[in-house]
Amino acid sequence: MKKYYITTPIYYINDVPHIGHAYTTIAADVLSRYFRVKFGEKNVLFLTGTDEHGAKIAEAAKSHHQDPQKFVDELVPKFKSTWKNLNISYDIFFRTTNPKHEKFVQNFLSRLKEKDLIYKKKYTGLYCVGCEKFVVEKDLVDGKCPDHPNKKVICHSEENWFFKLSKFQKPLLDAIKNKDYEILPLTRKNEVVSKIAMGLEDISISRAGVKWGIPLEWDKSQTIYVWVDALLNYLSALNIDKKVGLKWWPADMHLMAKDILWFHAVIWPALLMAYGSIEDSPLGVCKLPKKIFAHGFFTINGQKMSKTVGNVIDPNVWVKKYGADAVRYYLLTVTPFGEDGNVSEEELKTRYNNELANELGNLINRVINMISRYNVKCQMSNVKTKIQNSKVNKLIEELIFDEALREIWKEIRAANNFIEQNRPWELAKNDPEKLEKILHDLFNNLELIAYSLEPFLPETSAKIKDQLKTLIPKPLFPRIK
Ligand code: MSP
Repeated sequence: MKKYYITTPIYYINDVPHIGHAYTTIAADVLSRYFRVKFGEKNVLFLTGTDEHGAKIAEAAKSHHQDPQKFVDELVPKFKSTWKNLNISYDIFFRTTNPKHEKFVQNFLSRLKEKDLIYKKKYTGLYCVGCEKFVVEKDLVDGKCPDHPNKKVICHSEENWFFKLSKFQKPLLDAIKNKDYEILPLTRKNEVVSKIAMGLEDISISRAGVKWGIPLEWDKSQTIYVWVDALLNYLSALNIDKKVGLKWWPADMHLMAKDILWFHAVIWPALLMAYGSIEDSPLGVCKLPKKIFAHGFFTINGQKMSKTVGNVIDPNVWVKKYGADAVRYYLLTVTPFGEDGNVSEEELKTRYNNELANELGNLINRVINMISRYNVKCQMSNVKTKIQNSKVNKLIEELIFDEALREIWKEIRAANNFIEQNRPWELAKNDPEKLEKILHDLFNNLELIAYSLEPFLPETSAKIKDQLKTLIPKPLFPRIK
């Protein structure tokens, strides 16, 4: 039996979600919906959630004069409602403050310690709280982290527990070479491989100074590094819910942007390898995730999205104005998945009016109208089988979402042209037989279009199917001035 376990990153809960978070989550939703049709509803598991520990969250809570647990508890509903507004069909919303997860993480690390893969050492280095990672001088621009120019890089000198990542250089390179796991797209894989080849240093997996975190089992004075805590969610979510279970592991797809690929493509597989060799482990041998895909980064008018610049876009605002499907459509087509791209509301509006209102909306409206006016008998068929081997499917499986949608739009444009060429309103006067044939063909095209749109625009797809059944057209995308 085929199964598909897909994850988004669990997002830092220091603020409400923005369109960058929405982007990854929408893409994961498209894949989940697609594989639910292909493998069956029950054979897809889609995980998203929130990363709730660490200095970054503690600081955010403090700036709101709130206790961190209360602070995150109040933000979770904002994530959930955003995903609801965008029609995200996740199965698991995972939170790292779940006590069962905390226990799981502690046990996991204790086993690495037993295996002598964790040791204590004094370390001095520069730390960026924005990234929640140590940085090196040469990566800084004017002494600041290029990704977080508004946050101070702090000098940390602590005695911490370290994971022997250096031992895993060869195993990781071998695993990548043997395709035990795949890093995508290829350009990103090459970057990761050459960086591993340059050598891996051991990483600290605990913090003495951070109180908001999971304490180490054997040294309660230290909390577990938030990235280790977070990465383990993909596994602990399965383990702690017995109804879900470890049968879902390994993940078939970890989705994220390029910013956190290193953690997923290097540190995560190394942790799994380290754990997996323990024979009496309750998890058995930990297989590696099958695919890790890093997409690009959105900018707003060429600038990084940031609170200080004041250009952060709340997806809910766009959904309210344009609808969930328009936001999904725009974000998935604005740039090839994998590359960086610029987004703007102006462009969203133009594309909404041209592609969604004029091309798709009009087509549905005209065809349903004519079928009902000329009283042509049409029936829904089961087109699911027809779309099974389509070009669109192949593109979805390769995560080439923009091309997949362009393929569907080719059909939409072709159908509009077909109407112009055949002028059914004239046939109605002099060739009723041809009229019927043409409207039948169009009906079938619409049905195909509705099915192929389902993973991308679920609401619109359902509305089209409904209109095909009832033959009552309602505007799908009213024009926006
Ligand atoms: N908490 C960690 C992830 C732990 S996963 C085990 C984290 N959180 S985050 O809130 O910073 O989310 C980063 C992710 O959000 C990116 O990898 C990407 O999926 C999404 N994006 C955030 N900003 C983005 C853009 N500007 N553009 C595209 N995606 C963006 O890192």
